[in-house]
Amino acid sequence: MELFPLPASEVPSNAKVVWEKFSNQKTFDRDLYHYGTFPEGFAWGVSSSSYQIEGGWNADGKGLSIWDNFTQVPNNTVNNDNGNVACDSYNKIDEDLYMLRALGVKMYRFSLSWPRIFSNGTKQSLNPKGVAYYNNLINSLVEYNITPIVTLYHWDLPQDLQDIGGWENEELINLFNEYADFCFQTFGNRVKFWMTFNEPQVIAWASYGLGIFPPNVKNPGYFPYNIAHNLIKAHAKAYHTYEQYRKEQRGIVSISLNTDWGEPKYPNEPRELVAADRFLQFQLGWFAHPIFKNGDYPEAMKWQVGNKSELQGLPSSRLPVFSEEEKAFIQGTADVFCLNTYTSKIVYHSTRRLRPYSYDDDRDVSEEVKTNWPDTALKELKAVAWGLRRLLNWIKEEYNNPDIYITENGVGTEKRVTVDDTERIYFYKTYINEALKAHNLDGVNLKGYTAWSLMDSFEWLNGYNVGFGLHHVDFNNPNRQRTPKRSAHYFSEIIRPSIQHLVYTTI
Ligand code: NOJ
Repeated sequence: MELFPLPASEVPSNAKVVWEKFSNQKTFDRDLYHYGTFPEGFAWGVSSSSYQIEGGWNADGKGLSIWDNFTQVPNNTVNNDNGNVACDSYNKIDEDLYMLRALGVKMYRFSLSWPRIFSNGTKQSLNPKGVAYYNNLINSLVEYNITPIVTLYHWDLPQDLQDIGGWENEELINLFNEYADFCFQTFGNRVKFWMTFNEPQVIAWASYGLGIFPPNVKNPGYFPYNIAHNLIKAHAKAYHTYEQYRKEQRGIVSISLNTDWGEPKYPNEPRELVAADRFLQFQLGWFAHPIFKNGDYPEAMKWQVGNKSELQGLPSSRLPVFSEEEKAFIQGTADVFCLNTYTSKIVYHSTRRLRPYSYDDDRDVSEEVKTNWPDTALKELKAVAWGLRRLLNWIKEEYNNPDIYITENGVGTEKRVTVDDTERIYFYKTYINEALKAHNLDGVNLKGYTAWSLMDSFEWLNGYNVGFGLHHVDFNNPNRQRTPKRSAHYFSEIIRPSIQHLVYTTI
C-alpha cells in the first residue's frame, strides 16, 4: 500500500469505467473461455475457520464463544446442528495436513479461536493447551512448506466479552489488540500473513442488523454502523501493533472483506450506475474506503445515510464520524487486499427513498441474477462467474491497483451431494477462468486464490445441511472421515503448475 491517503471516491466513483467497459458485452463474448495460465509464483490455497472445523468446544481449558452458546439453543440452526465436534480438527491435525498435501496447495488459511487462546478473552486467562494446538498446526504446515495464513477473528467471540457488551463496547478494541499482540508475538516467527477480521460487513449486518447471528440484535438503522466503526478501529489498532514486529518478522497484515458484485439492471442510465456504485460502496467500501483510501467512509455512504437521517428529522447522521486523528490512524492499514466473494446481484435505483431505518434500505435494492444453477446448490449464492472479473477490475480501479488475494470463493451444495460434485467443478472452472482473465487480460494484480473450503464444515445457520468442501466429511461417523470429492482432484490439477495448461485445455 502507498503510505499516503488516496482521495475520497466521487459519486459514482471512477471505478464506474468497469460497467462502461463490460456491461454491454455480448453474452457470447462474456462467457468465452480464456486459455492461459497464472504465473509460476501464484499462491494457491484453501480456507477454513476455527468454529466451523475444530470441535473440542470445551476441551483442555477452552472458554466458550458466542457460537458455542448460540448453537445449544433449540431451533437456532438447521437440525439444531452445532460445532461441538464439527470436523474434530482439534484432534485431527494429521488428517487435515494429509488433505492439504494431497491437494498440493501453497497456502492454508485458517483462523484462531480467541477463547481457545484466552479463555475469557483477556490475557490473564491464557490457555497454554490452546496455544500448543496452534503451535503444532503451524509447525506442521511449515514443515511441509505450506504457508499459514491466519485470521485472528472469524466470528467466535469469547462469551465473556459479549457479556460486557461485545463489539458495542469500545473496550473490545483494546482487548482485541491485546489478543492480536499476543498472537503476533507467539506465532509471528512462523506466520507471515495475518488477517484481523473475516467479513466485518457480515459481523455488523448479520449480527446487529438482521439479528440472525449472535448476539441477535435487530437494530438495522443504527447498530451495524456503530459496530463497524469499532471493528475498523480495532483493525487499525492491531495493524499498528504489528509495526513493532514488522522489521523482525517481515509479514503482512490485512483484513478479509466480502462483497457480491453489483451489476446495474439498466447499465445505460447514469442514475443506475450511481445505484450500483452505492451498492458496492455500502458493502465493500464501508471498510475498504477507510482502510485503503482516506481513513473515512465513502462519500456515497455519507450522503445517503446523511440525507436519510435528515429526512427522518434526526439531529445528526446515523453514520458515525471519525475524527481527523482517527482517519489518519486508519488510512493505509492493510498491506494487500483480501477478498471473499461468492455471487453477484442485479442492482437498481430504489424509489423507496423514505423507508428510512435500515442499512439495507440505505444501500439500495438488488435482486438475483437469473441463471440455470442446479437445485442442489445453495440458492442465495448463485454462481455468476463473470461478476468476478468485473469485481476484480472494480477493486483495481477504486483502490489504485493493489495486490489482491481472493481469500474465499466457492459454492455450497446440499448434503445429498457427496463426492460427485459436478457443480463445484463447474464453479471453480468458470470462476478461476474469470480470475485468469482479470489477471492476464486486464492487468489486475491478483496474487493468490484460496478456495472455500478445505472440507465440509459447520455452515453457521445451515448447520451441516450445506457443504462447501473440496473434501466430504462424514458427520455421522465418529471418526469424521474425510474423502476427496471430484472437485478436489480437479482443483489439485488446476493448481499444479507443470500440467496446468494441459488441464485447462482438456477438461
Ligand atoms: C463466508 C464465511 O467467511 C464462511 O465462514 C462461510 O462458511 C462461507 N462464507 C460460506 O457461506
